[in-house]
Amino acid sequence: METIIVLDFGGQYCHLISRRIRDAGVFSEVLPNDVSVDELKKIKGLKGIVLSGGAASVYDKDSPKCDKEILNIGIPILGICYGHQLISFLEKGKVKSGESGEYGLTEMNLNVTSKSESELVKGLKQKQMVWMNHRDIVEALPAGYIVVASTKHSPVAIFENKKNKIFGVQFHPEVTHTENGQKLIENFVFNICKAKKEWDVSNYAEQIKKEIKKELGNKRAIIGLSGGIDSSTAAVLISQVIGDNLVAVYVDTGLMRYKETEFIRQAFESFDFKLRIVDAGKQFFKALKGITEPEEKRKIIGKTFIDVFEKAAKEENAEFLIQGTIYSDRIESGITKHSATIKSHHNVGGLPKDMKLKVYEPLRDLYKDEVRKLAKQLGIPDELVNRHVFPGPGLGVRILGEVTPEKADIVRRASHIIEEELKKQGWYDKVWMAFGVLLPIKSVGVQGDERSYKFPLVVRIVESQDAMTATYVKMPHKVLEIISTRITNEIKEINRVVYDITNKPPATMEWE
Ligand code: XMP
Repeated sequence: METIIVLDFGGQYCHLISRRIRDAGVFSEVLPNDVSVDELKKIKGLKGIVLSGGAASVYDKDSPKCDKEILNIGIPILGICYGHQLISFLEKGKVKSGESGEYGLTEMNLNVTSKSESELVKGLKQKQMVWMNHRDIVEALPAGYIVVASTKHSPVAIFENKKNKIFGVQFHPEVTHTENGQKLIENFVFNICKAKKEWDVSNYAEQIKKEIKKELGNKRAIIGLSGGIDSSTAAVLISQVIGDNLVAVYVDTGLMRYKETEFIRQAFESFDFKLRIVDAGKQFFKALKGITEPEEKRKIIGKTFIDVFEKAAKEENAEFLIQGTIYSDRIESGITKHSATIKSHHNVGGLPKDMKLKVYEPLRDLYKDEVRKLAKQLGIPDELVNRHVFPGPGLGVRILGEVTPEKADIVRRASHIIEEELKKQGWYDKVWMAFGVLLPIKSVGVQGDERSYKFPLVVRIVESQDAMTATYVKMPHKVLEIISTRITNEIKEINRVVYDITNKPPATMEWE
């Protein structure tokens, strides 16, 4: 497949560049800045290379660089922001430390002749607003380069080496604030790199099915179905090739959502794989008895899950373990060197060590919204595709103190009421997550003329883009009141409801 590689120099928009190229219909992947020229040459269908932005200055001692030979392999190059400065630096132009920098929207002017001559700016206006975020600037061009556009502070806002097809832009075409930014990216991809428009998830699904046939053949495979979109999509995709040679194991930990087992059974009844439901609640509650420390709880839940799953895998005699790992999981787990927020992800890091299963990850190259598109195409019900995320340790992290079946039941029913009311009032799709948290304390109330002494329940409703930060949702008081009244009426163990008004940071979304 034809590919445009984005080299990661640490910029926060690095992955956005890759997304924009995929949106244009060409496959794109992010690689670390120090990938060797030999490795790049081995990539089948390599059509172009983008050097991303980054926070460093090219003159910093430890600033990320790439092999200069990349500029000589005869493949079109586009440098963005830091990438633009780096090309100039490597080609012996002059980069100057800007005194004040240039941030936000700036007017850019195309040179008189470039509008008709430069392929990169075809179809752009003479003047347009571009989004800048830099301190250093390219001051003098390297030999063989010409200026295509300028702004007040950046005399070389775009440059071009026509002969070698090397381009640099000081601004960020990948952010939506830049006028005609997508047009510029598409000019690079199609007019300059001559890439074919062949990437979309349905084409990809066909290609990946061929790979599944080749890799798995008629061998037996097993997958852990969590009720989330990634494992569901992986399961359906694989089963379309190997049918009931795939066993999907759903472990009911006793800490799952309201009527989750029924939901799973219904959602997947029309698909081909064998669904094995393991009712393991008793085992989890036994392991969690007397445990109150949050990290210890998480570890016990994780270990118990692996024990249960491993037993099922052995009984099913599977040769492959299918995982729903997606591209962002791999990024978070550090496949690129400069990604700012690296955390170990359970899909990638926590495999049972002594399971002699070969791991296969059919969604490894897809972004979340691409998985969502694919899931819809595969006929996975909308209710599953659009549902909120749910933490791996389940309700275990929403019951403070000891986890018992009774408490799990309280918090499960409360969360269900919260979600049901948000759906009724049109709020469910607008928020990241909405759930209840049960506290291990009691307070006094009055119900039916009698004094009560019961648990309080915390309602937590948050908004987030990427799970790394979050804000609490400013819900209308009327909706909160309906939720509070229903919870205290319908759950006899609760006599008080409070709303969590903390953002992340300083809090996390979950309470443990
Ligand atoms: P926090 O509480 O860290 O949560 O702000 C951010 C998002 O991650 C989910 N979460 C988890 N998901 N395994 C998961 O698969 C976990 O151990 C886990 N802990 C938190 C949480 O629900 C939220 O969406």
